[in-house]
Amino acid sequence: MNDMRPAERAVTTKDIKFECRNCDVYYGDTHAIKDVSVDVEDKTVTAFIGPSGCGKSTFLRCLNRMNDTIDIARVEGTYLLDGEDIYDKRVDPVQLRAKVGMVFQKPNPFPKSIYDNVAYGPRIHGLAKNKSQLDEIVEKSLRRAAIWEEVKDRLAAPGTGLSGGQQQRLCIARAVATEPEVLLMDEPCSALDPIATSQVEELIDELRENYSVVIVTHSMQQAARVSQKTAFFHLGSLVEFGQTGQIFTNPKDPRTESYITGRIG
Ligand SMILES: Nc1ncnc2c1ncn2[C@@H]1O[C@H](COP(=O)(O)OP(=O)(O)O)[C@@H](O)[C@H]1O
Ligand SMILES: [Mg+2]
Repeated sequence: MNDMRPAERAVTTKDIKFECRNCDVYYGDTHAIKDVSVDVEDKTVTAFIGPSGCGKSTFLRCLNRMNDTIDIARVEGTYLLDGEDIYDKRVDPVQLRAKVGMVFQKPNPFPKSIYDNVAYGPRIHGLAKNKSQLDEIVEKSLRRAAIWEEVKDRLAAPGTGLSGGQQQRLCIARAVATEPEVLLMDEPCSALDPIATSQVEELIDELRENYSVVIVTHSMQQAARVSQKTAFFHLGSLVEFGQTGQIFTNPKDPRTESYITGRIG
């Protein structure tokens, strides 16, 4: 097993984290997601690609019930996380979002210190018994987000004073601090310069060891670089889903081919 090359390892069947069946989302009369069914694997990066407005962000938000916060959104279908229905009445969306963390397009640190940004989730979920445990969680999360060395001497400084790339890694640290199982990322690099982008991409690749990562990206190069599975959305439908290599080199659907060759923008 250990001498498998990465490309071969990527095709090994992993545990299914999210099982989504017959999913529809409406915003008033707009049918934004149409009968989408997809399995999201554990310890895998899954990329959602497709033209602007095709529903990538909408579908991503279904996975941690962020659409609950949009009044006119109506979500239908089955969304199972480890076999449990996340839309069950007994599920607390706040608890769910600690398990299914989210990183947004624009880095959005709280107007608090670097330390308090990361400690926020562990505090509200009571994950630390005392200050030294909290310190440990903060350090571990910042290390996982590959930003510890850059901030360890200024943990009391405001998170908003960091560079864009650092802020995004701080937001990733904040998301991993509650020990999520899934990380949802909506175009996490689109506000970043190329150097910060490659740092975050490297980090995504490392996070895959412990998490299931779902990334929305408008960059096909990025999808090809960071993901093992790719889902191509078009006009609210999931047109094609498969191994990233197959989607990019040998798409089965003509719409996927048009998109990856630049004919649908
Ligand atoms: N909050 C909202 N209210 C109303 N319509 C929305 C909202 N968010 C998205 N939409 C609509 O849903 C469709 C899918 O949008 P979105 O999921 O943002 O696409 P993508 O992320 O692929 O660009 C679009 O037609 C968009 O206009
Ligand atoms: Mg979007």
